[in-house]
Amino acid sequence: MRNGLNEPGEDFIRTRMVCVFQLPNFFLHKRGNRSIIDSVTYCTIMKIWFDGKLVDEKEAKTSVFDHATLYGDGCFEGIRFYSGKIFRLEEHIVRLFNSMRYLLIDCPWSFEEVCAATQETVDASGMQDGYIRLVVTRGVGDLGLNPRNCPKPSMFIIAQNISLYPKEMYENGLSLITSSYRRPNPDVLCQQVKSLNYLNSISAKIEAVQQGAGEALMLNQRGNVAECTGDNIFIVKDGVVITPPLTEGALGGITRHAVQDICVELGIPCEEKVLNRFDIICADECFLTGTAAEVIAATSLDGRTIGTGRAGTITKRILERFQQLVRE
Ligand SMILES: Cc1ncc(COP(=O)(O)O)c(C=O)c1O
Repeated sequence: MRNGLNEPGEDFIRTRMVCVFQLPNFFLHKRGNRSIIDSVTYCTIMKIWFDGKLVDEKEAKTSVFDHATLYGDGCFEGIRFYSGKIFRLEEHIVRLFNSMRYLLIDCPWSFEEVCAATQETVDASGMQDGYIRLVVTRGVGDLGLNPRNCPKPSMFIIAQNISLYPKEMYENGLSLITSSYRRPNPDVLCQQVKSLNYLNSISAKIEAVQQGAGEALMLNQRGNVAECTGDNIFIVKDGVVITPPLTEGALGGITRHAVQDICVELGIPCEEKVLNRFDIICADECFLTGTAAEVIAATSLDGRTIGTGRAGTITKRILERFQQLVRE
């Protein structure tokens, strides 16, 4: 229990944290010593792409005057790679450039350079499978809000492992609660922009954690389903796969898009439709999609069982195809 927060898998996270402090440097530098540090991947010294070059992790530092630190001013992407190949890299970088366009951040690197830098970071990681965090910050300025005082944005790219949910959740599905925090209207905070301002999602995630749930369902200002804190949501009803349109306040997820493509390929009817809590509770199946979470079944909402209470057959077919697709 930390600060009133406790969630499944926390012990696993804490174990890794302890390892960081307990393992002598000797182990930290020995990348080859996989048998000892297999479950403590955070211990390996890694290379971070930082403003144009790969540097050691300890040298990758941002300023306390960067407006990303002071105001959450910036944007990011979460990307995965499988067997050394980055999944839908260009789609991610298009989304990044759209976020920057919206936020009026002038990227010092071209689209091609950002793609190449991402690949370079993956290659330097020595990992075959992993998660990339690409962050663009507004840059160093003064203590005022005005972004004009931040002449140069910064960019850094990390390639590491991520394990969002314990393995059993992928087998048994996760539970959802409905958050009391609503997704704001786009004129308040545009959900299509993957900005560094995640407090709305974090507030909802805290509610889920405090209630022992795997994720929080987030409604929009009209009370319709938008998405979850860091995932898009789908239901299956009478053989049709349904997800809310982006206008309901969901991020245009790249995994969401991949799942829509998979449905077309497998001949499973798939549509975008406004959904409410009732539709989720009375669905035959429900699953979430996100780069970090991939495809995971949701089997209850606010204590009501969804479908059979286990990952449904269509969910499993989509998951199986997704697992193939990412390695093609
Ligand atoms: C709020 C939110 N919704 C949905 C998603 C899923 O998007 P993607 O599949 O591109 O990771 C994410 C993850 O980035 C997210 O942060």
